Amino acid sequence: MDMTESELQAFHEHLHENNFQGQWEKHESDSKEPRLEPHRWEWDDIVASLNRSKDYISLDDMGPGSRRALVLDNPAEGIDLRGPCWTMLTAVQMVIPGEVARAHRHNFEAFRFIVQGNDSVVTNVNGEKLPARTGDLLLTPRMAWHDHINNSSEDVIWIDGLNTPFITDALHDMHFEEFQSDRQSASHESGYFESQFGTMQPVAETPTDDTPPYRFPWESARQSLEMAVTEDNHYDPHNGYFLEYVNPRTGQGPVLQTISLRLQLLQSGEETQSHRHNNTEIFHVVSGSGESTIGGKTYTWEEGDFFVVPPMRWHDHSVTSSDDVILFNITDSPIFDAFNLRRTESKDA
Ligand SMILES: [Fe+2]
Ligand SMILES: [Fe+2]
Repeated sequence: MDMTESELQAFHEHLHENNFQGQWEKHESDSKEPRLEPHRWEWDDIVASLNRSKDYISLDDMGPGSRRALVLDNPAEGIDLRGPCWTMLTAVQMVIPGEVARAHRHNFEAFRFIVQGNDSVVTNVNGEKLPARTGDLLLTPRMAWHDHINNSSEDVIWIDGLNTPFITDALHDMHFEEFQSDRQSASHESGYFESQFGTMQPVAETPTDDTPPYRFPWESARQSLEMAVTEDNHYDPHNGYFLEYVNPRTGQGPVLQTISLRLQLLQSGEETQSHRHNNTEIFHVVSGSGESTIGGKTYTWEEGDFFVVPPMRWHDHSVTSSDDVILFNITDSPIFDAFNLRRTESKDA
């Protein structure tokens, strides 16, 4: 073949004008595969910035989707991403006394893990007022109406987790609706969802595994974790004592359709074995302190901090506190599992 560079280029242009492209053509992006970075966010910095936001923003002046929330951003350069990873958005939300985060719903599923809560703070999900007590996990499944009200005299802070990047950036399927008023009325008795989707469920002609609205109280989650330690069950050398929240509809994990939520307990002095996997893990330190080696670099952490382990980075955890460590672990493994794409490697294997 005796073709000049300009003739080849003219051929490519001809293809492009006709909405074709040669599979052999090079793309600029081929040579620089975007890569997320590990990172640790300190709790004190998060709280200080949320406190500063009181001087700058009022939810009353903003749209119904606005929340007093800090999105944890991945520090990787050259990446246009809102959140710590490709599939999940993690944010820390503060609701100040008297504040109302207005009612809306959307096609991304969400959870809240309450870091500082109390009985007078409620998240109304589809008409049931769920109290937001410290350590509780509240589910806001896709298309569930939700608003938040702080009737107490203290700031409350929780973790917001959503699958927004997966839905909007990968699937480009964004659906958002504003409720007809700022707040929903209470159309269900307290405890309704727990009574209908826990151990007793409505007899369904068409079974579904859709996650319902739900509240997992901290007391029972902690008890499950402590019982695993007492009985020495469910121990994983890469994760310590390792339990997963379940979808109340099915009694099995994952708790949401695209996000699995776990609790891990690492005992004082423990060092986990290194492993890596293609699902991302975002950790929040519920209690205790320690350090993690992620991709060859060590990150120290203490109570309240967050850190992210991007895909396929070797990582292990060590406990440095005299108390045991409890980690809240957020991962996108259900997306990989849905397509048999999950890869896990351990150095000991
Ligand atoms: Fe929302
Ligand atoms: Fe891991």
